[in-house]
Amino acid sequence: MAVLPQQIIAAKRDGHALSAVQVDAFVAGLVAEGGVAAWSDAQAAALAMAIVLRGMDRAETVALTQAMTRSGEILRWRGLGDRPVLDKHSTGGVGDKVSLMLAPIVAECGALVPMVSGRGLGHTGGTLDKLEALPGYQADPARGRLHACLLDAGCAIVGASATLAPADRRLYAIRDVTATVESVPLVTASILSKKLAAGLGALVLDGKVGSGAVMREPQRARELAGSLVEVAQGAGLPARALLTDMDQVLGRTAGNALEVREAIGFLTGTDREPRLLECTLALAAELLHLGGLAPDRTAARTAAARALDSGAAAERFARMVAALGGPRDALGDARLPVAPVVRPVPAPQAGFVAAQDARALGMAVVALGGGRRRGGDAVDPRVGLDAVRALGTRVAHGEPLAFVHAADEAAAAQAVVEVLAAVRIDALPPEDAPVVHGCVEGR
Ligand code: URA
Repeated sequence: MAVLPQQIIAAKRDGHALSAVQVDAFVAGLVAEGGVAAWSDAQAAALAMAIVLRGMDRAETVALTQAMTRSGEILRWRGLGDRPVLDKHSTGGVGDKVSLMLAPIVAECGALVPMVSGRGLGHTGGTLDKLEALPGYQADPARGRLHACLLDAGCAIVGASATLAPADRRLYAIRDVTATVESVPLVTASILSKKLAAGLGALVLDGKVGSGAVMREPQRARELAGSLVEVAQGAGLPARALLTDMDQVLGRTAGNALEVREAIGFLTGTDREPRLLECTLALAAELLHLGGLAPDRTAARTAAARALDSGAAAERFARMVAALGGPRDALGDARLPVAPVVRPVPAPQAGFVAAQDARALGMAVVALGGGRRRGGDAVDPRVGLDAVRALGTRVAHGEPLAFVHAADEAAAAQAVVEVLAAVRIDALPPEDAPVVHGCVEGR
């Protein structure tokens, strides 16, 4: 069996399936033993590119996922009661703040939700960047603080520690700068290795489809959702995916502090944008059903809606924020930072909002400073878009299509141009598009 790096790279370059032994050798070579990793960055990048071009079958992808999971610590949640350990993961979108509401809803319905989340990637926002807009919020708490948060709130939204799937951490950094991110098997193994290492009992995936999705073509977005479900199941983790619409900003805001403010309004019942409500309840219900906390989807949805409407989920969110170092009264005074410049984006003509290029809107937020141009950049939590008009909204000439929140006048003026270019106004409304396109159940 060929297990030297150059032999494994050549095998994939020539279109062969890698054996589990070869995959294990690669992953072991990514993690430094005694300070030196056996595979150089160049070798890891060459294999990543060979995988992008040649693909991997399901068995290879399962082997890669499991090897990356085993590359670090596997978390266990003993001493926190016998609640099922559940989580949701989105493939990434614009304005996607669902995790902020779903985690406390599902916790209120009886689950333990240790949600290991990520930062913004490309045009998509990251849950940790959003929560860190709350002054003091610690996304990498010490183990004791994390446990205390889970005991009190039932949920904790945190980042992956350095000990969780370290092979993915190294490979991801290499992929990020070698044009090897967009690969269904590599994305699948990257996402699932962290989820499997988080010791979950069941996982629901939100497979985003549309102009703001990471995989731009609908077919590839569906392929990714199918791969995530089948590989999770192949690795022993019960999983399902909902395919949900990302052809427009989800909810009314995009940008870190603005999205947290919308999430708090949603939880407290001040404002629940209908598509965001549908997406949140559908995913929460799917997870409660899959995790055995409800006998069917109807009962699961009723339980999720009750957790939200009673205010109990909002209370859990507040307890999570306080336990992780954020403001003590997140529902009353979240102390979110505010941008100094707020400017409307006036509709260039009367009509209906007919289309949004959600990716371009996400990039406008990045350009405002709300996301990163390069890994390691700081994000400006204050900036972004709010009051974004949903598809089908009738607008008068000059009426705001959204408001830009910016650090200065020049950035605001540029963002206004970008938003105008990303939104189409027509005389007729577009056809209604469902929020949930379908469900991927796998085996
Ligand atoms: N998110 C991840 O964690 N990994 C990927 O490869 C892509 C998105």
